Amino acid sequence: MKSFLSYTGCLLLALGAVHGAPAKNNIRDAGNPPLRGSEDLLGYSPDNKVTGHSTDKIEYTLLPAQKEDPKIGSYLDFEKADNPQPIRGDLGGTDSGPRNYNYDRINSDKLAPPGTDQGQTINAQWPMGLSHNRYGKGNAGWARQENTVVMPDATKMAGVDMRLEPGAYRELHWHVAAEWSLVLNGSCRIQAINENGQTFVDDVTEGDVWFFPPGVPHSIQALDGGVEFLLVFDDGSFSEDNTFLASQVFSHNPKSVLSKNFGLPLSSFDNIPQEELYIFPGTPAPKDISEQNVTTVAGVVPLNQSYSYHFSEQPAHEVAGGSVKIIDPVTFPIAENFAAAIVTVKPGGMREIHWHPTSDEWTFFIKGKARATLFSAPTTATTFDYRAGDVGYFPQSNSHYVENTGDEDLMFLEVLQTDRFTDVALGQWIGSTPKQIVADTLKLPESALAKLKTEKQYIVAGPK
Ligand SMILES: *[C@@H]1O[C@H](CO)[C@@H](O)[C@H](O)[C@H]1NC(C)=O
Ligand SMILES: *[C@@H]1O[C@H](CO)[C@@H](O)[C@H](O)[C@H]1NC(C)=O
Ligand SMILES: *[C@@H]1O[C@H](CO)[C@@H](O)[C@H](O)[C@H]1NC(C)=O
Repeated sequence: MKSFLSYTGCLLLALGAVHGAPAKNNIRDAGNPPLRGSEDLLGYSPDNKVTGHSTDKIEYTLLPAQKEDPKIGSYLDFEKADNPQPIRGDLGGTDSGPRNYNYDRINSDKLAPPGTDQGQTINAQWPMGLSHNRYGKGNAGWARQENTVVMPDATKMAGVDMRLEPGAYRELHWHVAAEWSLVLNGSCRIQAINENGQTFVDDVTEGDVWFFPPGVPHSIQALDGGVEFLLVFDDGSFSEDNTFLASQVFSHNPKSVLSKNFGLPLSSFDNIPQEELYIFPGTPAPKDISEQNVTTVAGVVPLNQSYSYHFSEQPAHEVAGGSVKIIDPVTFPIAENFAAAIVTVKPGGMREIHWHPTSDEWTFFIKGKARATLFSAPTTATTFDYRAGDVGYFPQSNSHYVENTGDEDLMFLEVLQTDRFTDVALGQWIGSTPKQIVADTLKLPESALAKLKTEKQYIVAGPK
């Protein structure tokens, strides 16, 4: 604070000098201060003296882990540090500012990276909290998105976090990309029709998934408690601003054409909306879903092509450090290029070091705190800190882990563009490689070689 004051003091002094001795080249209107400074401020003056030296000492206490060998790279909880500094072992130095403590406290691996980080990888993090919100009408909800505008290297998938208040609609629409969705909170009714005229309607709740293929028109209406859901699109440049809305397809065709198309008098179209509705309040959906089950001669979308999957009812696969649930076209055939996992990691635990051989990974953090190191060949590595509401992105075959850095369970979603959920685990690879090769390469002691595991761990338990 003191050094900031002396800095402003210095500025004020400089301005005073301008007022006291107007320079000949200063253009100024009578009574107005000059826009530009004086030539007197040019350097190399023999009587130039720097004033306002700050003798303040930066007061800080390092966390114990900051005194370790930087390659140990333990997580630094800067939320519990008074004046966090970019120091690990003999690396770094103090930060006198300017700085934003709020960012520094929640991004300790950015401020004081592990000694194993190197160079510059892609940016693998986007907090939805930094996305500009798009409002619905009449307090009906909002949506915010992540796409290549904000994460230029996340080219294969984009995401939207959307909220609908009770009874509110996401307007009838379709889009060029395929849409995969996870319900994050509450419940909603979804409906659609496919190219064969077959109809679909279902209610989904927290933890359930839906999928709408490209071009298939659909709508979403929140039930009693409202709904928040995550949409993932199979195109990193997808924008929620560019969907084909029912209101717009009507307002951008000549009314005579609409009249001919529907075999209705022109007057039928007197009140069609001229602006998009997008997210807007609606009449509450009937409690009994069968009232909205439109059945035609074309029939309903066959069960094995259903647009919903009640993922919330699938039991999790429990492992030592947490649990995993996988969904891919084996169980949810319509989403033929989406494979995903919901991973829960207990405090101290970690999704093991792995990579996905056939796809980029788009990640969304649902609950808790985490960090991950993205390692890209040949030598770059960046560690990112994530919170609930953040998007992560790990390109195909680039290794990463996800460590729980908080005191509560960590929950996140991994989404791949592939027809099977697959990964290669570093532990299983090394554990299943002839020991002599491992010993020659990595110089692990005999005692360690004997303990390597040949099974995939998914999630490992660890000390808090
Ligand atoms: C869903 O929203 C309600 C209301 O804000 C909240 O009480 C509840 O904890 C939320 N559930 C989850 C899983 O976030
Ligand atoms: C809609 O009706 C069809 C045909 O009767 C039936 O097979 C389907 O289960 C119904 N769907 C819902 C959600 O009630
Ligand atoms: C879905 O089920 C129907 C009959 O129930 C079957 O004829 C069809 O081949 C199945 N489709 C797929 C993609 O499995």
